[in-house]
This record gives sequence, C-alpha cells and structure tokens, in this order.
Amino acid sequence: MKVTVVGAGAVGASCAEYIAMKDFCSEVVLVDIKEGFAEGKAMDLMQTASLNGFDTKITGTTGDYSKTAGSHVAVITSGIPRKPGMTREELIGINAGIVKDVTANLVKHSPEVIIIVVSNPMDTMAYLVHKTSGLPKHKIIGMGGALDSARFQYRLAEALEAPISDVNGMVIAAHSDTGMLPLLSKATRNGVPVTEFLSDEQQKYVIEETKVGGATLTKLLGTSAWYAPGAAVSVMVQAIACDQKKMIPCSLMLEGEYGQNDICLGVPAIIGKNGIENIVNITLTADEQLKFAEAANAVREVNGDLKF
Ligand code: NAI
Repeated sequence: MKVTVVGAGAVGASCAEYIAMKDFCSEVVLVDIKEGFAEGKAMDLMQTASLNGFDTKITGTTGDYSKTAGSHVAVITSGIPRKPGMTREELIGINAGIVKDVTANLVKHSPEVIIIVVSNPMDTMAYLVHKTSGLPKHKIIGMGGALDSARFQYRLAEALEAPISDVNGMVIAAHSDTGMLPLLSKATRNGVPVTEFLSDEQQKYVIEETKVGGATLTKLLGTSAWYAPGAAVSVMVQAIACDQKKMIPCSLMLEGEYGQNDICLGVPAIIGKNGIENIVNITLTADEQLKFAEAANAVREVNGDLKF
C-alpha cells in the first residue's frame, strides 16, 4: 500500500510518522512546495526507522507528482494553518487554490486514489475536491470528526475522572468552532450514558471545551495542533489499508442523508478498502437535528465563496 501525504509541515509530518510507526504501509511519499523540505522530513523520519522498528519506506519530493504515481490513498494537508484568534473559515482564500491544484496533480498520477482532506476549512475543502476531482464520492473523505471525537473523549474522561479507554463519544456536523456537534446524548462510560454521571454544568463544560478544542491549542502553540490531527489521519488510513470497516465520523458528501444535500458534513461512516463503505444513519434528538441543520447552513455559506 502506497500513501502520499501532501504538505510536509506539522500535520503532514506527524501523520507520516504515525503511519510509519504502525507499519501497515509499504511506502509513504511526502510532497511539499518548499524546496528540499519534504526530502528533509522524509530523511529525518527514515533515520528513526531502526530506532522505532518500522519498515515503511518514507521518501520526499519537492512537487514532483510522478513520484506519487500509483498511490492508494493521498492525504491533503497542504495550505496555511490558523493563527491565534483566526477561524478556520478565514483560510479559504489561500487554501482553496492550493487544494484544487494538489487534487488535480494527485488524480493525474493516481486515478484510482482515495483522498483524505485535512486542509481547512475542511468541510468546504472536501466539497471542493468533490466538485473538481472527478472521483466517485466514496473516495473523498474529510478528516475532522475523528479528531474532534478524540478531543471530546479527552474532555469526557477529564470530567468523569475516568481513564480514556472507559469513555466513548462522537462528534458530528461541521469541523468548526460553532458547527461542531458533540453527541452527549450518545456518549457512554462502559455502556452507561455519561449524562448519569455528569452535572448540567459539567456537561456544558465538556461540550464547550470540545468545540473550542482546536482554538485552545492554537492559543497555546501559536499555530494549530499536529499530534492529534496526525494520529486521527493515521487511524483513517489504517482503516482503508487494512479494510477494517471501522466506524469513524468523517466529512462526506450527503445526498439526502441527515436531511441534507450537496454538502460535505461530518457523519459516522464505515471506512474500509473502498474508502466510504457505508454512511451510518443514527437517530438524533430534536435539538441535535436543529444544530445539525444550523451547522449545514453555515458550511453552505462558506461553500458559496468557492470559485471552481
Ligand atoms: P504547516 O504550515 O505546518 O504545513 C503546511 C505545509 O503545506 C507547508 O510545509 C507548506 O510548504 C505546504 N504547502 C503549501 N502549499 C503547498 C502546495 N501547493 N503543495 C504542496 N505543499 C504545499 O501547516 P499544518 O499545521 O501542517 O496545517 C496544515 C493544514 O491542515 C492547515 O490548513 C490546517 O488548518 C489544517 N488542519 C486541519 C485539521 C483538521 O482536523 N482537519 C487539524 C489541524 C490542521
């Protein structure tokens, strides 16, 4: 299995590192526009192989997409990240042009590729890839829900004073501070609804901290996070590579599901060797349905700024 990661910056390199460490791919190709950068990151990572015990071959290239030919999966992380105080939506102007060019190059050399979109504003970038790549819809997957759910579980474990492996929870809808929908009604601690353990105030805290999880880190780091995003991508790539049929919330093209059409939004999906194998329809409460629809309206507005 050959995987291409475009953008050898913070998220791209972290993602390549986690993929290599899990040792389920034969080859990872890093691509960047900055001269020598992807080659340098690849060399540095390869020099950890004997230390960390993996056989995945990591190579880098400055924009030579012929080196990516025959990729099964490609991850797009190229673009600018947000700075403290910025929203993900403010990145659209620069990132849309980059994502469109990168997609064309990827598909030219790997017409069968499955694309995982990471660049922000992610739901809109995933929509752009749908509109410009010519790939079937099951091959375009936005990464947001996997990360946001991990952050939700981190906050749930904190509030419950429980080990993370005890908690389960999922975030759907938009990958944005306002459009994220942590499904508290379905979160559990070893099968018991978390609402039985948490006060109203604690529930509110968990939801609010989950929604601003990215912004909190951006404030602390001066740029956006990379470890958890890289790990989240690696879980999605592994689900495809190993045909795990794993249920992961992902941003995908909705055609009637959850009452939405012609929009990419986060919903649970079964991820396997074909990319999106199935969309999972879960029953939302009336309040969750309303919030999902509001998130869709906000994403649709950002999509309106795209020029194809
Ligand atoms: P970064 O600045 O560290 O890395 C981005 C890399 O992309 C740079 O090395 C840059 O040279 C490269 N690049 C720019 N234009 C390119 C092009 N045309 N072709 C190839 N490479 C190109 O940024 P970071 O922190 O890695 O973030 C990357 C993107 O991922 C940002 O848009 C950020 O907002 C997004 N992100 C999304 C997350 C999600 O959950 N979906 C989570 C974290 C970040």
